[in-house]
Amino acid sequence: MHIRRAVYPGTFDPPTWGHIDLVHRGIKIMDELVVAVLDNPQKETLFTAEERAAMLKDCIGGLPGVIVDRFEGLLVDYARAKGCQAILRGLRAVSDFEYEYQMALMNRRLAPEVDTLFLMPNEEHVFVSSRIVREVARFGGNLASLVPDSVRRRLEAEFPHNSNGR
Ligand code: PNS
Repeated sequence: MHIRRAVYPGTFDPPTWGHIDLVHRGIKIMDELVVAVLDNPQKETLFTAEERAAMLKDCIGGLPGVIVDRFEGLLVDYARAKGCQAILRGLRAVSDFEYEYQMALMNRRLAPEVDTLFLMPNEEHVFVSSRIVREVARFGGNLASLVPDSVRRRLEAEFPHNSNGR
């Protein structure tokens, strides 16, 4: 199957090197990839949807074929409205599987014509998650290998630390 356009949905709170790695892998096998930030006011996030989309644009906005957008409501409705044939998701470890499997099958039930495609990030990033990144940032840990510089700066602004790292 030739994939013309797919959607890579997520919370991206914040985007990590793992997400960016997945975008680079995805765009090699499709013409266009819409990276779609979930905008759900009920879900508590560190960064607003606008900020998360801005961070993604900083990191991957310049890649040919990559579009950064925001969505609300059901993912499959958004995918259909945007003419996406597939949903792209990253699989890091077995622990991701159950949640991803459930979501993929639910999305297929709702929209049988939209398939979910899983790619694995570089093994360097398999343990990196937005939740862990937020925690490292909160306690002043080194973020350099986890997120791009522009994201690191925003995290450091959210969690200012003095010179002794506390
Ligand atoms: O980065 P995340 O938090 O794992 O992404 C989860 C996301 C945004 C893909 C998922 O929560 C989602 O698609 N939400 C939109 C609502 C929806 O369509 N739910 C039904 C899917 S089972």
